[in-house]
Amino acid sequence: MTVIDFTAATDNSDLMADPVARANRSGAPEFAIIVPTFNERANLLALTTKLETTLAGLDWELIVVDDDSPDGTADLAWQLGREHPNVRCIKRIGRRGLASACIEGILSTNAPFVAVMDGDLQHDETILPAMLAKIKAGADIAVGSRYVGDGSSGEGLSPLRKWGSEQATRLSTLLTGQTLSDPMSGFFAVRRDFFIDVAPKLSDEGFKILLDLIVSASRQGTAPAIAEVPYTFRARTAGESKMSPLVVTQFLGLWVSKLSGGVLPTSFLLFSLVGFTGIAIHLGVLTLFTTVWNIGFIPAQIAATLIAMTWNFFLNNWITYADKKLRGWKALQGLLLFYAACSIGGIANVSVASMIYDLRAVPIVAGLAGAVMSSVFNYAVTRTFTWRS
Ligand code: GDD
Ligand code: MN
Repeated sequence: MTVIDFTAATDNSDLMADPVARANRSGAPEFAIIVPTFNERANLLALTTKLETTLAGLDWELIVVDDDSPDGTADLAWQLGREHPNVRCIKRIGRRGLASACIEGILSTNAPFVAVMDGDLQHDETILPAMLAKIKAGADIAVGSRYVGDGSSGEGLSPLRKWGSEQATRLSTLLTGQTLSDPMSGFFAVRRDFFIDVAPKLSDEGFKILLDLIVSASRQGTAPAIAEVPYTFRARTAGESKMSPLVVTQFLGLWVSKLSGGVLPTSFLLFSLVGFTGIAIHLGVLTLFTTVWNIGFIPAQIAATLIAMTWNFFLNNWITYADKKLRGWKALQGLLLFYAACSIGGIANVSVASMIYDLRAVPIVAGLAGAVMSSVFNYAVTRTFTWRS
């Protein structure tokens, strides 16, 4: 048996102080490009070729983080990895989410400098060397911006998307307190050590990892030094955008969550939002059954409760837990668990409300206390048992 002496390898304190030297010693590349993908098979080869041209002469790697795309993006990425040793792929099964894919990709590399870019060729890879230069020169983050200098959203955004992007930029400025031209950009480079420091504070839900990174770092007390590099957003030529009303709702959830200093998790806010729509459904069904169809109050109330619970389950499965969506049998099992949790939540609601009512509170206060209590309960229980983290 050969015994390897690790002490010699680790005794290099002078080298260890410098992140670049440290990475070079470990054999890690200097620059890692993280590309989250969902159904980007048609773009991956072109992307790799473009990166090879732009980054020629640099020591870099490409990490594709694929969420089990049905089009076989991961298979192609692995095949490319066999031909190019600096290409690798992380395939995640049963998970979805752009932000969490980026986070896992960055955490998987030893490269001291990292960039995140889309896999659909909309981001102009030729600015990567300039972004790398900025973070090497001391910036914490270099943002590829469509709205600074020569940058533009070009053909890449429809008028509606452009308007939405501008509104989101306004909302973000309120949060970061920094006048950043394009906080919605999904294209940026970051120093790995800076990222690792902030990573525990990041929300893994949704699309907007850059915004989250800036807000979370600022909240930790050090507003990041940000450089901007202009580029023109290209039109997508193959595959489809995953932007949707769902993504917009998730963004608003993230925004309110960050406004609360992270005290209210995005998923709780979305869960509560779904809960409000459930109340409307409940009251609507109840009215319909009792006044239009003259069904007795008790059966109508039972039917309305069941319908509202079912509605809440599917809406939560679609919006709040899009990243852990239950399908097929698992969805049915989840629905039954959801009914069970909400029934206990309902009992808790009534007991808390009547306890507070007995303390001579006005009915509305007692009712509200009961409702808050059962939402927190339902959220906590279904998060643990229905949509397991
Ligand atoms: N792993 C993984 N999981 N990747 C995903 C997921 C997911 O659930 N959803 C989307 N992606 C990948 C896509 O395959 C693509 O490579 C990239 O994330 C961006 O997704 P698009 O669907 O092309 O988004 P977009 O073009 O509408 O918006 C992008 O550009 C905007 C402008 O820079 C995003 O980067 C936005 O964050 C950005 O604001
Ligand atoms: Mn895109």
